[in-house]
Amino acid sequence: MTIENITKIGVLGAGQMGGGIAHVAAVAGYEVLLADVSVERADAGKQAIGKRLARGVSKGRMTQEDADAALARITPCTSADFGAVDFAVEAATENVDLKLKLFKQLDEVVPAGAILATNTSSISITKIGAVTSRPTRVIGMHFMNPVPVMKLVEVIRSIETADSVVAQTVALAESMGKTCVEAKDQPGFAVNRILMPYINEAFQTLYEGIASAEGIDTSMKLGTNVPMGPLTLADFIGLDTCLAIMEVLHDGFGDSKYRPSPALRKYVEAGLLGRKTGRGVFDYRS
Ligand SMILES: NC(=O)c1ccc[n+]([C@@H]2O[C@H](COP(=O)([O-])OP(=O)(O)OC[C@H]3O[C@@H](n4cnc5c(N)ncnc54)[C@H](O)[C@@H]3O)[C@@H](O)[C@H]2O)c1
Repeated sequence: MTIENITKIGVLGAGQMGGGIAHVAAVAGYEVLLADVSVERADAGKQAIGKRLARGVSKGRMTQEDADAALARITPCTSADFGAVDFAVEAATENVDLKLKLFKQLDEVVPAGAILATNTSSISITKIGAVTSRPTRVIGMHFMNPVPVMKLVEVIRSIETADSVVAQTVALAESMGKTCVEAKDQPGFAVNRILMPYINEAFQTLYEGIASAEGIDTSMKLGTNVPMGPLTLADFIGLDTCLAIMEVLHDGFGDSKYRPSPALRKYVEAGLLGRKTGRGVFDYRS
């Protein structure tokens, strides 16, 4: 069920998260403009959504007809085409300079009354809002990975975000079947303030040779009943994203307890970013 006032949603970034957001928005009945650096990249994102929808059909979670209709609601484009969207969600790479640049661009293209949301995992919503002409209409809408599966959306208001914008964002997330929790605009908000130091410590434990990668993950799975170990989870999130979030925590709080592990840095330097590149701590190529 869609909500009043919002029919067309622009999603900027067609990677893991943008693709997931476009997927749930289209299934909920919204028209989706899916943008990336090029229409080709956005189109690749749409194809990946098509594969995930087909898996949903084969597992009996949705009908072929519904999957086809959802996919048909997604149009690959670039953000220059966001001139008629009612709501935009940015889900590009976790980099503060990039996000500031993209929000300046979105502010110029997206209609003045529309809301600009960011899926950032850790960057200040207040800082992002301040580069636009509509800071009261900028908000954090932090989906979890994989978006179609994970129920939570963390909603973050900047010091400027209007109450009505929070209410509309929550209503939109709920119309996509999500449950919202509000968190304050501090580095990492709530989820990554807790999760990333845990993942970082797993890399540090690996770096110090306390246990093997498999040993660390098995220990946490069988010892604490989490569904996947922290290193597998990091591969799933993307090690570049994990490092970027640790850097935001480290810089934002100025506390050495958030220092990124040298092991995490090494993997990123090597381009071993996790599942999305085929290799991270573990190998997914076979
Ligand atoms: N991976 C996770 O588990 C997770 C969870 C919650 C939030 N996030 C956040 O979501 C955002 C995206 O993460 P992801 O995992 O989807 O990363 P990703 O690497 O899978 O996708 C990022 C996408 O952004 C695109 N991009 C880069 N520069 C761009 C530009 N100038 N214009 C348009 N698109 C551009 C890339 O081409 C890529 O398709 C980040 O802010 C991240 O912190 C990630």
